[in-house]
Amino acid sequence: MLTSEEIHPDNANHANSGEGFGGNDGTRRLQRYSAIHSIERLASNERDGYILHGEQASLAIIAHADGIIRLKLAHRINGAQAAAPDLRTTPAILDSASSGDAISYSEDESHYRLQLANLSVHAHKQSGRIEVFGSGGKPHKAEDVGGGPNKSANSENVKPDHSGAKSDSNQDREPLLAFSSIEWTGKRQTACTIETHEDSHYYGLGEKTGFLDKKGERYDMWNSDVYEPHVPDIDALYQSIPWLIHYRYGAPASGILLDDPGRTTFDMRSGGDDRIIISSENGNLDLYVLEGPELKDVVKRYATLTGRPPMPPRWAIGFQQSRYSYMSQEELLSVARTMREKRIPCDVLYLDIHYMEEYKVFTWDTERFPDPRGMIAELAEMGFKVVPIVDPGVKKDPRYPVYAEGVRNGHFCAKLEGDLFIGDVWPGPSAFTDYSDEAAAEWWGDLHRHYIDYGIHGIWNDMNEPSVFGVPSKTMDLDVVHRNGDKPKTHGEWHNLYGMLMSKATYEGMARNMEGERPFVLTRAGYAGIQRYAAVWTGDNRSYWEHMAMSIPMVLNLGLSGVAFTGPDIGGFSHHASGELLARWTQLGSLYPFCRNHSAIDTIRQEPWLFGERVEAVCRDYLSLRYKLMPYLYSLFYEASSAGLPIVRPLLLEYPQDRNVSNLCDQFLLGKDMLVAPVLRPGTPSRSVYLPEGTWYDYWTGEKHEGGRSILAETPLEKMPIYVRAGAIIPEQALTQHANERPEGPTKLTIYSGGEGSFSLFEDDGLTFGYEKGAYRLRDFEWKESASGRTLASSLRNDGYPGLSRELEIVIEQAGLKPASIELAGSAEPVQWSYDAAFKRIRIPVPGDGDFLLTIKN
Ligand code: GLC
Repeated sequence: MLTSEEIHPDNANHANSGEGFGGNDGTRRLQRYSAIHSIERLASNERDGYILHGEQASLAIIAHADGIIRLKLAHRINGAQAAAPDLRTTPAILDSASSGDAISYSEDESHYRLQLANLSVHAHKQSGRIEVFGSGGKPHKAEDVGGGPNKSANSENVKPDHSGAKSDSNQDREPLLAFSSIEWTGKRQTACTIETHEDSHYYGLGEKTGFLDKKGERYDMWNSDVYEPHVPDIDALYQSIPWLIHYRYGAPASGILLDDPGRTTFDMRSGGDDRIIISSENGNLDLYVLEGPELKDVVKRYATLTGRPPMPPRWAIGFQQSRYSYMSQEELLSVARTMREKRIPCDVLYLDIHYMEEYKVFTWDTERFPDPRGMIAELAEMGFKVVPIVDPGVKKDPRYPVYAEGVRNGHFCAKLEGDLFIGDVWPGPSAFTDYSDEAAAEWWGDLHRHYIDYGIHGIWNDMNEPSVFGVPSKTMDLDVVHRNGDKPKTHGEWHNLYGMLMSKATYEGMARNMEGERPFVLTRAGYAGIQRYAAVWTGDNRSYWEHMAMSIPMVLNLGLSGVAFTGPDIGGFSHHASGELLARWTQLGSLYPFCRNHSAIDTIRQEPWLFGERVEAVCRDYLSLRYKLMPYLYSLFYEASSAGLPIVRPLLLEYPQDRNVSNLCDQFLLGKDMLVAPVLRPGTPSRSVYLPEGTWYDYWTGEKHEGGRSILAETPLEKMPIYVRAGAIIPEQALTQHANERPEGPTKLTIYSGGEGSFSLFEDDGLTFGYEKGAYRLRDFEWKESASGRTLASSLRNDGYPGLSRELEIVIEQAGLKPASIELAGSAEPVQWSYDAAFKRIRIPVPGDGDFLLTIKN
């Protein structure tokens, strides 16, 4: 327990000096990238670029991919010649990112000017100041404030300026970002100061506490196991994604990735309101600048740089139930039976550390789980999958085959001199696999055959920061060496990659051994690019209302940082949930991409039926809603996987010109069309909901609201307000109890009239990698309204899978007066439609196969 002694004046380090380097480091000798004396073409066949030679450092400027430029510093140390920068990247960066634009170069008295197709870089010779300009595309006019999503331009209709006068035209407009100083100390810490504006907003940064907009905050990137309550002062959690989005109303958005998996800092506080200071403890400056102009373009470009998530198996999108720990086979089976008896849809049950013998990974505690094979088969019959926890710590025990084999084959992390690193975790003293080593990673991946043989297809990676007990650093010694092929790295340099490389080895090992089926991996720790291998949950939160509220900005910023498949422990991990909290959190969690109820040992149990019938009914209803919306959700997962867009989004992503939403994070959008406004405090009979411009419908009652203002929504315990945008097309299916149960009847397509919209419905087997080779069905639907009538066009973009249901039931809500006629182009038979005058609702069954055009004449 900390007391006031913590803030004793003698302990203060006056870190907020406003300089690039916090703290009192008397030994530091500050050096600065300043005068640039020459320029040289980069000798690389793969990328085009230039090196700007300064007196004390060189800065490589490389065209990385369309709209992405890389800046990499090589500084001189102790007067030694600055080597040409090593252009190898960390595993965060995809090799397949296109080779980038060609760069042309010009020079005048004051500047070196580098010109790409869309971006340009101006380097000031005397000061070393670097300015990055975008294509000149304005995302939307400042006066557009309050306009709907259809009004905003996107990258497709913004034409880059290719004219030769580009450099001059840049002179009268603002750069996307300007690096006003790059400094380092004799100890090699590097900091760069980026000029922004007083009205700048900041997003991304992965998994951080606090609100959506990170203005005025300062965060460390250092993967940390934080069991203390997650509060705004905590500057590092389990994930480190050194990726920041910069946004100003009326100006093009941009993003910066610092590809450094050591300790780095993003400081939007010390330099005032119009500066960001990004620093690296290891002295790295390997930055990627991404242009917009829209926020969505920045997010999509980040996905081309670090990868998009693969489609998870459909069952992993279902509801998941966990506990630290289900202590026996009987207990797990009884949870499963209760789910089915009570008609609470559920797909996954978790095994926490007690399933193992002495917490040894790849073993079973056969007293608690005497027949895992039989148990898993019985659960599979009921439609459940089992996901066991696998931590990185391998118990030090010469009789334990995994440890013995790992030591024999040199798969564990060791110091340079050869001593194994042994750290304490659940099993006691343990060794840790060096996942940076190809052979070790493959060995680890293939160890998962153990689980696959039992019928397990999903793995939960925890403690992979890695967390180490009983040492001040709380992690592996910083001088442990990761082999990394021919480029060894110390743990201090690569700490933040440890968890991601573990999940990569796990995902790839599972995929290798599952005969074409898609694995599911859940991880606590990660780095930029983690989305390629695992879903992320936000770690050890507590059953606090504040933590439920904070999960929204966490999930939203993770989504803006490439991690679409994410969510918190529903109900809270430690502390004790109340029925009301669980009901509200299940409502909210039912529409998060990752949906799992988990709680800690010694806390009150929090399965959905443990707080009486009312809470149970709320949980059942909202989890059922998730399953009914499965076609919508599943298609959003496909959008994440194909376009890199998040599944849940801050309103700002769809309404970037709306000044009311820059920090709005007590409500969010699911996809582009559903607005979710959860209740985040106890005893709340109503809440205010902000509806952006346009027309919105209450999902529950159909009541119509004009947006551009806040409304007051009634919120009895049974109701979480949800609104749907006019023009939206929302697909739903009949309720099932798990995601692989075939829904009865047609897919229902509800259209909310009063606007225009589109939706792409994705279907595949939900199980294999076949979709990567075209085995999927993708239908585009487009709804249009005009004075004479309305149309729904369906076109089959890909027909590689039979689809769950070829039939559609089209329901048009708030359809107005009874239409004069409804025609289906191409169909010889008249359409059998019905009209409900009380609800002004039209129902039209459509065979649905292939392309069609439905015309509704007024
Ligand atoms: C860590 C995890 C938690 C898990 C526990 C026991 O605290 O974050 O989810 O239940 O370890 O394995």
